Amino acid sequence: MITNNPPILIKMNVRLALCLTFVLALLGVNPVFSAGSSVALESPRIDAGSEKSLQRGAKLFVNYCMACHSANYQRYSRMARDLGLSEEDVSEQLIFTTDAAGEPTKVGSLMENNMTTEYGRNAFGVVPPNLALTARSRGVDWIYTYLKSFYLDPSRGGIGVNNTVYPGAAMPHVLWELQGWQKKVVVDDGSGHEKVKLELMSPGTQSVSEYDQTVTDITNFLAYMADPIKQTRHRIGMFVLLFLFGLLGIAYMLKKEYWRDVVH
Ligand code: HEC
Repeated sequence: MITNNPPILIKMNVRLALCLTFVLALLGVNPVFSAGSSVALESPRIDAGSEKSLQRGAKLFVNYCMACHSANYQRYSRMARDLGLSEEDVSEQLIFTTDAAGEPTKVGSLMENNMTTEYGRNAFGVVPPNLALTARSRGVDWIYTYLKSFYLDPSRGGIGVNNTVYPGAAMPHVLWELQGWQKKVVVDDGSGHEKVKLELMSPGTQSVSEYDQTVTDITNFLAYMADPIKQTRHRIGMFVLLFLFGLLGIAYMLKKEYWRDVVH
């Protein structure tokens, strides 16, 4: 006669917990760490599976960011494959740099720019960091809000702007033509507390919602670079889950079969 004894139950619970952790990991439920900041961060509505958004993000990145930033864990050819672009398109439309011999950078190369460390340090005081993994270190909300939070600040001398998310940042407002210029205003939030707000004082070529989309696309692209196989992993994860559910069904039927003569 088989009886339910506690050790088996405990083992079952441990197994259940492990399975649950595994399933949650597959679903991509993990704690999000973002660098500390006193400003409330906004969350972009990113569609990681949208090739169109990623292509727009890649175009914006090579045009507006790569003059200063590299992304040198990422190859152009890999980006072409993942974003549904041909290598010819990428060579013609997305590569603006040259290699050490002065030739246009090859599509199999890493996404590096031509700025030397000394130049970066002299021009900005800090070397513009490699952005390949920034979506992991800072988090997507941080990047999204950061790119929307530049404001005019005459006290900043040369670059003339500051940022509420990253006060004192050495980066100029490179997207000013699109967003326009913002200024910082302090408002009373009704309960006697002062709140800092950014107000658009002279609009750029894009409306507020268009600029939000622009920044969402750049953030999406940075998130893709920080984790290029995320989409593949999710697809495989779904197959694994389906397989496990199938197995669960079979195991349940088997269990019923085994216990049929024991428990009535
Ligand atoms: C003119 C040069 C320049 C351009 C162009 C530029 N940046 Fe920067 N960026 C900098 C510098 C310099 C820093 C370092 C700021 C600091 O630490 O004070 C920086 C910092 C950053 C950071 C913070 C990284 C971190 O972890 O601290 C992000 C994110 C970023 N840039 C994104 C972008 C994006 C996206 C673009 C394109 C839309 C862009 N940058 C274009 C110069 C530039």
